[in-house]
Parts: sequence; structure tokens; C-alpha cells
Amino acid sequence: MIVIKDLWKRFGKNQVLQGLTLDVQTGETLTILGRSGVGKSVLLKHIIGITPPDSGSIEVDGVRVDTLKGQALYHATMQMGMLFQGAALFDSLTVAQNTGFFLAQNGDLETGKKLSQSEIDDRVDHALEIVGLAGTQNQMPADLSGGMRKRAGLARLIVYRPKYLLYDEPTTGLDPITAMQINELIVKTQEELKATSIVVTHDIVSALYVSDRLALHNEGKIAYVDTPEPFLEIDDPIIAFLRKQISQDPRSLRRTKND
Ligand SMILES: Nc1ncnc2c1ncn2[C@@H]1O[C@H](COP(=O)(O)OP(=O)(O)OP(=O)(O)O)[C@@H](O)[C@H]1O
Ligand SMILES: [Mg+2]
Repeated sequence: MIVIKDLWKRFGKNQVLQGLTLDVQTGETLTILGRSGVGKSVLLKHIIGITPPDSGSIEVDGVRVDTLKGQALYHATMQMGMLFQGAALFDSLTVAQNTGFFLAQNGDLETGKKLSQSEIDDRVDHALEIVGLAGTQNQMPADLSGGMRKRAGLARLIVYRPKYLLYDEPTTGLDPITAMQINELIVKTQEELKATSIVVTHDIVSALYVSDRLALHNEGKIAYVDTPEPFLEIDDPIIAFLRKQISQDPRSLRRTKND
């Protein structure tokens, strides 16, 4: 379980997080929606411990990750994996080396044992096949399309089998069919690993497909969090917009001359 309490974070004059509080239950998939620039990626980076808060606390399975440093932080966050917005592949490593990176570094998460190169290769091949990238093992990230890079990032995440999965915009920039395959993969990974997942997205279809609960991040806080049906009924302009997106012909959303 992840328990975030009264989190504050400022970059210069930009007060991004303003007392953000959120619980993520073990085994659930929670989606965070919110306008661009509200601090969704910043929040995920706090949870995996790469950005420290100005104040507030983040507990993961009872351990305060916000106060840890160095080796202790590394151990506390080893069970977490994140798909970064933009995939964040290592440009000088091949797709196979990128995918196997954490396995080579940390070994098997369940047993704690080091893995041989052939064991790593087998798992990497399997993960690449799952995300539809079989045969790309020796390609460099620069030679992949945007959607392929995203899927390689996803392969790197699922091959590692972490208990906590954080996805930052997993379907953004993908065609609708590939996006749906990614949604299916998120659900499948969740079931297989019995993981706890946080998905940040602008894609309401993806949010509804993968989530147990939805949250709206607005003005530095989680404004609402609820299961899909009551969430969509909340009287709020951003949620009203999301509601319209899934229930109306987009042509009816066009502004008229009188707007
Ligand atoms: N390391 C940093 N230094 C300074 N400002 C930062 C840093 N990281 C994020 N910010 C600022 O914090 C704000 C929130 O950024 P963040 O990337 O979390 O937005 P977001 O909600 O993920 O947006 P999007 O939906 O477009 O990805 C932005 O104004 C951004 O410029
Ligand atoms: Mg972001």
C-alpha cells in the first residue's frame, strides 16, 4: 500500500504540489487524470524516490521512502518499476540490453538471485514478444518509432516483474489499436503479478479500461478519487469534459460562433 500525506513541492516560484494526499491500495490499479502541467509526473517521481518533497510523507508498505537516501532508498524502491513519459530508454544500449537492464543489475526480484546471461536473454525475448517487438533485440532506440520506444519501455518494466508499477502516459502517441493492446497488457500484467499500479493518463478510454479507481489531480492536490461510475458523475468542469468525451459525438463538442 502507498500512503501519501500532505505532499508539498515547489520548483522556484512554481508551487506544484500543494498538500497532496492519496492512498493506493495493495492490488488495485489507480488512474490519475489531470491537465497538462499539474504535476502528475512530478508525483510519480516522488513515489519512486527520485524527487524529494519539500514536506509531507510517502510510505510504501510502511516504509517512509521520502526520507531515505543511497543504498536504503535503492532497496526500498527496488520493488517499483516506472514506465517514464517518453520511455527513457538508454540511447547507447540495444533494445535487448535496455529490456534486460534491471534484471542484469538486480537479478530475480522474487528470489534475489543473480541471473545468467542466457536466463536474461530468454526473459527479454519473451517480454519483447509480449509487447509485439519480437526481432528488435539488436536495434538501437534511435531506430525505433515513438510507439515502438514506448513498447520497449513497457517490456523493460514487465520483464522485471516489480510489485509496484507506475505508468506515465502509457498510451499517449500510440495509434488506437496499439493503445488498446497496451491497455490489455496493463490489465494482464496486473493480474499476473498481483501488482499495485498507478497509471497517469489523459486517455479516458484507457483510464476506464484499466482502473479500479480514478483520481483527478488539480491545483496541486488530488481533488477527487472514486470508482469509475461515481467518479464520472462528479460535478466538476474537467470531469464533465471527460464525460462528454466518452458519451458524445466529438462534432457536438465543437465551439459554435456564439460560444
Ligand atoms: N525538475 C524540475 N525543475 C523545475 N520544474 C519542474 C521540474 N519538474 C517538473 N517541473 C515543473 O512542474 C510542473 C509539473 O510538471 P509535470 O511534468 O509533473 O506535469 P504533468 O502533470 O506530468 O504534465 P503532462 O500531462 O504534460 O505530462 C511543470 O510546470 C514543470 O515545468
Ligand atoms: Mg507528465
